[in-house]
Amino acid sequence: MLSDQPKANKLVLLLSNLGMDKLRILGFAGSLRVGSYNRALLRAATELLPDGTTLEIFDLNGIPPFNQDLEMNMFAKVKEFKSKIREADAILIATPEYNYSVPGVLKNAIDSASRPYGDNPFNDKPVAIISASVGMLGGARAQYHLRQTFIFLNMYPINTPEVIVTFAQNKFDANGKLTDEDTRRFLKQLLEKLASWTKRLRQQ
Ligand code: FNR
Repeated sequence: MLSDQPKANKLVLLLSNLGMDKLRILGFAGSLRVGSYNRALLRAATELLPDGTTLEIFDLNGIPPFNQDLEMNMFAKVKEFKSKIREADAILIATPEYNYSVPGVLKNAIDSASRPYGDNPFNDKPVAIISASVGMLGGARAQYHLRQTFIFLNMYPINTPEVIVTFAQNKFDANGKLTDEDTRRFLKQLLEKLASWTKRLRQQ
């Protein structure tokens, strides 16, 4: 199987150049809050996708607290999450910042999906991070903690642009629509970069 991988990559690239293969991004947010700015940011991303890409949003609600005793007997929701990650060409994570780090909900979901050892669906995937906070640093510290996790997961993060939404309460309307034009522009650039980065990685 492994030796067929370069051929498969070339075929995907060829189909993609012909416009026959959509690049699939899987997005998830580390907040379960109905009015979450990070969930709203993901919804905004669906409006700003480059041509030839799709974005599916996965809801982390319902992923139980990880217990290593049960990792060989996976919960259905974790199984579903893992297969969505596996099917995706690239990952987009929207994270709030909780106490200068990523929320437990997000870390728990990532930890759950990454197990058991040797069955890590994040392996080799390109990834981009976005964050929104009501504070003046926009979740930047959570982004840098999350980047550290990508090392063990063996993911390939986008470095720039950094989409860090500060004072989020001023950038979305009452319906959760991202109204700030600069943020929309940065988010669009990030999605374009994620798409081109994913295509470059496929050529390897
Ligand atoms: C926060 N918040 C926060 N903000 C920040 O910029 N730095 C931080 O360290 C924290 N810490 C923190 C801890 C906890 C437990 C909560 C509940 C909140 C504020 C947080 O960024 C803000 O509530 C965001 O709006 C949360 O994201 P969602 O739910 O809107 O996506």
